[in-house]
Amino acid sequence: MNKNIILIVDDEEGIRSQMKWALADTYDVKEAAGEEDALELAREFNPQVVLQDISLTAREGAAEGLDLIEKYLDINKFCKVIMVTGHGEKVNALKSIRMGAYDFFNKPVDLDQLKIIIDRAVWVSQLEMENNYLTSEIARIKNFEDIIGDSDKMLDTFKTIKTVSGTDYTVMITGESGTGKELVAKAVHSTGARRDKPFVIINCGAIPEALLESELYGHEKGAFTDAHIQKQGKFELADQGTIFLDEIGEMSLTLQVKLLRFLEDHKIERIGGRDQIPLNVRILAATNRNLMDEVKAGNFREDLFYRLSVITVDMPPLRDRGHDILLLATAFLSRYGEENNKPNLSFSEAASRAIAAYDWPGNVRELENKIKRAVIMAQEKRIKPIDLTLPSAAAEESGRQSLQKIREEAEKACLSESLVINNWNISRVSRELGTSRTTLYDLIQKYQLKK
Ligand SMILES: Nc1ncnc2c1ncn2[C@@H]1O[C@H](COP(=O)(O)OP(=O)(O)OP(=O)(O)O)[C@@H](O)[C@H]1O
Ligand SMILES: [Mg+2]
Repeated sequence: MNKNIILIVDDEEGIRSQMKWALADTYDVKEAAGEEDALELAREFNPQVVLQDISLTAREGAAEGLDLIEKYLDINKFCKVIMVTGHGEKVNALKSIRMGAYDFFNKPVDLDQLKIIIDRAVWVSQLEMENNYLTSEIARIKNFEDIIGDSDKMLDTFKTIKTVSGTDYTVMITGESGTGKELVAKAVHSTGARRDKPFVIINCGAIPEALLESELYGHEKGAFTDAHIQKQGKFELADQGTIFLDEIGEMSLTLQVKLLRFLEDHKIERIGGRDQIPLNVRILAATNRNLMDEVKAGNFREDLFYRLSVITVDMPPLRDRGHDILLLATAFLSRYGEENNKPNLSFSEAASRAIAAYDWPGNVRELENKIKRAVIMAQEKRIKPIDLTLPSAAAEESGRQSLQKIREEAEKACLSESLVINNWNISRVSRELGTSRTTLYDLIQKYQLKK
């Protein structure tokens, strides 16, 4: 794997080589003694972190010298510039932070501390790049009604939507709850020729049968006890436009017959009415049931099933959409971050993994709700698995713990071996393992190794 690139800018060779010695194991280190070389190397190698000696930049009067920070950021806005400061340069160091430097660091250089700061800077830079990439991906792959998806299954769905939107075909949208069926129905309507005409939604599962009939077809005055005035139904309201029959699987057999008749002659009759009213309405329907099973069980009319399913769009469950999960999560994070005045939120690495690992029985709706909640509750900029109340988070943590254990055991074994071979000569062990003496002493104490 390619190492991340660090640029050290300092006019003292001794300091450069000291830092390089400490960092070269982990990073690809470039060095420059002056501003011009530094910028040239920055342009050529695009380092993730620049370690900049502040006295170099400040020699012409601080304000001018600090422009260098901007120049680095112009070359790569994700570059982290760390100022290395000597005595009495704290004011300039703070100024440099205001100018966009990531951090500052005091001379004389403590190499262990330096490593930690750099590791963190690289990590932050990478996170920012990744986040930037995801955000641009989201912009690229937003489709129709802001439907986000880049997985093969979703690309198929988009293709189908494009194909049917230019037609008046009836479309049956199936899929588990929360997979985006309503979103697709809206997209089919709003990309078609009827887009400026009404889009009327009715949830057949939420309304009792007697009421559903009058909701759909309307009634004449006096048609039944409570019918004090004449009322238009949803079909009439959707004339020239589209009606979306959500949860069609819940419709009673009686109403199914009536719907079938409309599909055949495109006319309705209000309850209690005598006139046949011709209408031009496109029908879209959705269900999270397996309608074929309902047909077999005698709960759904086979002829109606085929009439409605001229085209079918089957929404895949979220867990089968691969990388889309994280794209959606990032999109919701920035949407609700903005809404709640909490910009720049991001997921911790463990949170990203927990999101990818969870199987999302409630699909996109569940993901959206969990993120909305996490954003509202968030106290810090980084969202952790626990903020998302993900059950896999706990397992994830314990998985990490055991990984940590494995790492420690390997570290201990390697260290004791090197100590024995080198007869406890700390300088030699330090060279062999590429760690500083301070770190070595800490490790010897941590693992309680004895000669
Ligand atoms: N691909 C997607 N991109 C962005 N947002 C989505 C996507 N899919 C679903 N959503 C959002 O998820 C939520 C649920 O979607 P929707 O209501 O369309 O699902 P549904 O399949 O109709 O669910 P149900 O069966 O429970 O009615 C909505 O807030 C919707 O905006
Ligand atoms: Mg729905």
